[in-house]
Amino acid sequence: MIQNARVLKEDWVPQELQHRDGDLQHLSGELKPISHGLGAKNIIITGPSGTGKTTVAKYIVRQLDQEVLGIHWGYVNAISETSKSAIIYSLVRDAGRANDLRPEGTSTALLLDRLRDLDEHFVGIIDEVDVLDDERTIQALWEIPNVTLVLICIDDDDFFADLDSRVASRIRGSAKVTLEKYGHDELVDILWGRIDAGLASGVVEEGTVDHIADVAAGDARHAITLLRRSVRDAVENGDESLTIENVRPVQDDAREEMHKRAVNKLGTHQRHLYEIINDAGEIGASELHARYEQRVADPRVKSTRRKYLQSLEYYQLIEPSGSTRARQYRHREP
Ligand SMILES: Nc1ncnc2c1ncn2[C@@H]1O[C@H](COP(=O)(O)OP(=O)(O)OP(=O)(O)O)[C@@H](O)[C@H]1O
Ligand SMILES: [Mg+2]
Repeated sequence: MIQNARVLKEDWVPQELQHRDGDLQHLSGELKPISHGLGAKNIIITGPSGTGKTTVAKYIVRQLDQEVLGIHWGYVNAISETSKSAIIYSLVRDAGRANDLRPEGTSTALLLDRLRDLDEHFVGIIDEVDVLDDERTIQALWEIPNVTLVLICIDDDDFFADLDSRVASRIRGSAKVTLEKYGHDELVDILWGRIDAGLASGVVEEGTVDHIADVAAGDARHAITLLRRSVRDAVENGDESLTIENVRPVQDDAREEMHKRAVNKLGTHQRHLYEIINDAGEIGASELHARYEQRVADPRVKSTRRKYLQSLEYYQLIEPSGSTRARQYRHREP
């Protein structure tokens, strides 16, 4: 049944992104000045989980990289690397200018100079930027003339609400693209893209793909995860074709897998908050903060913790309830 298993993995980047033509065109247009040796606007990409934000960002920057000789680009996810110096280090390393520097203990000023001193343009993608606890990171980067930023977050209202107004007004000048959840038929096409590239022809029934797209409800990651689990089920059973009977029994497994991946991605402090809520089942905000402060030696400030909690909610790992004053947090089952 399987011809190319890699295609079914989540991090496989398809040659062509389906149903994002308009967005891709808009974004490449915004980056176009770079190919003429000019600066470009910074870019913000927003949209719910699984709408292709990360994939689209990498796609357009790779495309630019192929078209224009000698640009540099880097990618960093703020969920795993939250400190200012770790983020900038990561970008400088991607630009190939950190070989002689250590990740810890190098001053950010020195790191920023490395980007400034590049002869070429640098495009830095900062994913899940809403959990960044120090907005000076973005500020420091965009002040460098040859740096363009592509910022990704689920909801930019929340992101802006926490920013210093001067910083916010500057970021608001960025070009913005919002990716909507995929429609049923769009998900079906995305699934067929993977099936055609990864599986032997004729082994998948149309109804199966319809069913997977229904369950995934607009989330491409969910759709692909469910496809992979179903194929595994079929292979284990020695089935000749992939039917709904292979999908139904693995629907919970697929949800659990996504849940686990989301947890694995969390940075240290987010993980502490998640684990406290998970252990408690349900916990009030003040008790949560108290336990967190007991648990970690270098607690983050409350406004940062609130961002972390917000993103745990986006990833459906926790569920808040109650008013802001009497906020409760509950662990959410996959
Ligand atoms: N238009 C598309 N065509 C083909 N595959 C896609 C498309 N959009 C998304 N995918 C696939 O769906 C999966 C999820 O996409 P991606 O990780 O980019 O979503 P995201 O918006 O960044 O989600 P999150 O907010 O959870 O990080 C990836 O495996 C990606 O390859
Ligand atoms: Mg993403």
